[in-house]
Parts: sequence; C-alpha cells; structure tokens
Amino acid sequence: MIDDLWYKNAVFYCLSVGSFMDADGDGCGDFKGLTRRLDYIHGLGITAIWLMPFQPSPGKDDGYDISDYYGVDPRYGTLGDFVEFTHGCHQRGIRVIIDLVVNHTSDQHAWFKDARSARDSRYRDWYVWSDKKPPNANKGMVFPGVQKSTWTHDTTSKSWFFHRFYDFQPDLNTSNPYVQAEILKIMGFWLQLGVSGFRMDAVPFVIATKGPKVNKPTEQYDMLRAFREFLQWRKGDAIILAEANVLPETDMEYFGSDGDRMQMMFNFHVNQNLFYALASGDVRPLAAAMKVTKPRPATAQWGLFLRNHDELDLGRLTEEQRQTVFAKFGPDKDMQLYDRGIRRRLAPMLGGDRRRLELAYSLMYTLPGTPVLRYGDEIAMGDDLTLPERNCARTPMQWSNEPRAGFTKSEKSKNPVIDKGPYGYNHVNVAKQRRDPNSMLNWTERMIRMRKEVPEIGWGDFTIIATRNPAVLAIRYDWRNNSVLFVHNLDEQPREVSFALGLDGKQGDHLINLLTEDHNRADAQGKHHLMLEAYAYRWYRVGGLDYLLRRSDIDSDTDAHPA
Ligand code: GLC
Repeated sequence: MIDDLWYKNAVFYCLSVGSFMDADGDGCGDFKGLTRRLDYIHGLGITAIWLMPFQPSPGKDDGYDISDYYGVDPRYGTLGDFVEFTHGCHQRGIRVIIDLVVNHTSDQHAWFKDARSARDSRYRDWYVWSDKKPPNANKGMVFPGVQKSTWTHDTTSKSWFFHRFYDFQPDLNTSNPYVQAEILKIMGFWLQLGVSGFRMDAVPFVIATKGPKVNKPTEQYDMLRAFREFLQWRKGDAIILAEANVLPETDMEYFGSDGDRMQMMFNFHVNQNLFYALASGDVRPLAAAMKVTKPRPATAQWGLFLRNHDELDLGRLTEEQRQTVFAKFGPDKDMQLYDRGIRRRLAPMLGGDRRRLELAYSLMYTLPGTPVLRYGDEIAMGDDLTLPERNCARTPMQWSNEPRAGFTKSEKSKNPVIDKGPYGYNHVNVAKQRRDPNSMLNWTERMIRMRKEVPEIGWGDFTIIATRNPAVLAIRYDWRNNSVLFVHNLDEQPREVSFALGLDGKQGDHLINLLTEDHNRADAQGKHHLMLEAYAYRWYRVGGLDYLLRRSDIDSDTDAHPA
C-alpha cells in the first residue's frame, strides 16, 4: 500500500557525522555538533538527510566496517544523542535515512570473532568459509590495486573466509535465514528510533549467492521483497534507497515489476553518462541513458547524484568515453582510482568554474529523479589528494575562517581540514558565502527552493525534445496538465536552437522563465528559438498566462497520490 511518497519530491543531503561538526572539541565530529547545525541544513531547503555509518567501528573503511549494529560509536556520542538528533530533524520536518551495511561486518564484530574461534560456533555459518583456498580467490575484487584477493586465510580456524571488499570486512552469509532475520531486526531497531529508511549498501552483493564453488554469483531478488515488506509493515512510509551499480536491463528486478522491492535506486547509469556529457559536450549518450532507465514502477524513484563519498565510477562507459572523462576531469594518475574512476570532488574537477558548476547542478536538479547532494557541495568544497584512496573527498566541513575551518576547537581534527590552495577554508567557507548574495551557497538555496516548487520532475513523465544540436539537452515534463521544460547547453560555445515542444495547439506557446525575466514566445509556426550562452541552463514553465492560477492547484498537493 502506498502510504506517503515523500521521496518523490525530496532533496537529500548526505553527510558523515565525523566530518560535519565537532561540539565536544575532541577533533571528531559528533551528533551534538550535527544537531546544532540542523538549522543550517533546514535553511538550505533539505528535506531528508542520509547519514553515513555511525555505529561502533574500527573505522578502517570510514565506518563501513561495523562492529555493532545496535549502537553509536562513542566518538560520535550516545544513542541518546542520536535520538536528540532525529527529534531535532522531525521538529524541522526533515527525514533521516541511514546506511544499512549488511553485506559484511567488521572482522572485529563479536559474531565474526565467535565464528572464527571454533568450527562449531553458532555464528560459524553467519559467514562464508572454505577449507581450501578457492580457485577464484584472486577474482572479483571491488578495490583493485588495493585489495589483493576475495578470500583470506584465517589462522585461528585454519580456513578461508570470503570478503567481497577489504580483508577486514568478512561477508555475511546472507542466504542464512538467521542472518536474514538479524537484518530485519537491525532495520526494526533504527526505525523505532525515528529513521525513515535506509541507504542500503552494496545491494547486488548482499543478494548474491556466495561460496567457494560460486563462480558466477546469482542474485536472489526475492530477498529484496522480504526487506521491503518488513519495512512497510513496521513503518508505512519508510524507504530503501539501494546502492546498486547494475546494468539497466536489471533495474526492474531491483524495483520489482509491481513496485514491491526497492523504492529508490541511485542512477549510476545516468551518472556516468552525465559526466561523459559534461566532459565531451555531447548529450546524446546521456539522453540514451535517460531513456533506457525510464521504465520503472509508478511508486519507484531514481536517486540522482553527481559525486558521492566514493570514487566517480566510470566502469560502465566505453574505453574511449572513459578516457575522454579522465582527460578532462582527472588527467593525473593520482586523481584516478581502482582503474575505473576519479576520486576528486566536483569543484576541482570543473576547475572551480562557476558556470560549469551551475550547469552540472542544474542538470542534477532537473534530470528524472530525486537529487542527492553531498555535504560541502553547496559551497563548492575541494579535495586533498595527499590523503589515501577515497579519503581525499571526505575532509571536514568548512564552516568559517577560524582555525580548522570552525569544524573543531581541537588542535587536531580526525581528517585534516583543507587549509591550503584555492579550496582552503580561508577562501571557501559557509560564513563567508552566507554574507555574499551571489555565492554558491545562496545560489544552491535558491535552486533547491525552485526545485521543490516543480513537482513535475519527481512525479511526471518526461520527453526529450529534439533540438538537433548534440550539445543541447531539452527535457519536458508533464504532470496533471502542467508542463515544464529544462534546456541545458553543455558546450563552451554559445548555441542557437529551434524546437517545437510537441504539445497540442497553442499550449506550448509561452515559456515562462522560472529563474530570470527572460521569457520566450513561440513563432507563428509554434517553434521556439533560443540563444543559449556557453553552459546555459534554462528552467521554464510551459503555458499561457493562466499558469499562475494552475500553480495554485498543485502547490498544496505535491505529496498526493499520482493521478
Ligand atoms: C559501498 C560504499 C563504500 C564502501 C563499500 C563497502 O560501496 O559506498 O564506501 O567502502 O560499500 O562497504
């Protein structure tokens, strides 16, 4: 049953507690600090926070190595602080989803310690073992170049254990019904403490068959339905946002053809093609990616993102396309990672060029789906390539030009703050941008406000309008007799385009610009002619002068059922 499809017109903000704000002065961000910053997040217009892992963890994979699913790492505070935080979010109408990392545990988890201690341990079968080294032990690594194998010898129990990720992250045997029951219990626990769902980590691996004899893992999609059912029995409006970088032909397996599996998935396919479009100025592969990921159940939704906490994975582009993106956005070996991606933040990738940044974010806000921002994007934070692997893009939030960016009062911070170069906290910080009406921060706030006022993107059906210009993407959305149009020029040169909107009669004659006074009227043949400057983005509402009247119908009704 559909209870409340809040995620259809939401704006997500992803952050890690440890890098956001340190209140107790120990150099590590904490829930108290984050709670103090909720008005900032609310002011940006964010409607949902995605919290990265904060449970007790040795912290060898930034918390994605959990050693206790039912607690808060003492560095970040207590369960009490967590509940104060979710309460603060609820007061402001912000929802919270948290990472659900159940493909593996930390090797320091009590279950694994017990499982390796004796072959007859009751937790033995919670993990994946082999007496001998499996022949495929050197295959299937997620972090090639850093991770050497997927099976590691355990000297205590004199056998081998499977780990899809690093060797300190033993895979859970997710086919075991006891493990499945425990996963539900973990979800139930956090739902009870006030979250609205989960960003489920590494979903294709969670549902894959695992074992020494498994050469080609098969996905057990039914598990997704079981997670979904439990979730909605407990809390009708809770969702799962799946991290599943899969081929478009399997998308419906994840969403479920009846919309009975994952409510949301990140659109990795669009993400990679979007970066190719930004690098090449050619939007055709992006348009193709949008079309091929279009089929989805009415209640399902894509999560749209630019950069996240991991590398920008370009693994699904062709070799030539990938090299185009590398050449443009990450030419040095040091900027690349795992033979497939770029580890930089967006602002340095785009040379700090405000026009290109606005273009990229404007695309993220207007492509089909729900936008997911990453903390620091709103002030165009940079990266620190001296830090290993993905840590370069996980530096503390830059609040002000006080020492250590106002992130902590301590002399040291958990991850070093960026204090040098054009992205150093002296230049790039919230306090400074707050005072400047033209800052990235204030631009972002305005764009989010407008994005929320255009529910057609999240709810409607889209059509790509032919502009006969490979650098220009024009998308029309229709929903409840309303239409909106977004036009982007990805080229560094100005472009002139003419197109017909393809609506009946005179319906599409007026284009009312939502961001400036630069409106447009069709010619006598019903064609629009636009002169687009380099990297231009235009947001239009389509229609005659009665559009304002029609707006008032939908404003109060954006969360209702689809028509
Ligand atoms: C996901 C996370 C990544 C983590 C990995 C292992 O891919 O996004 O950060 O390292 O899972 O949990």
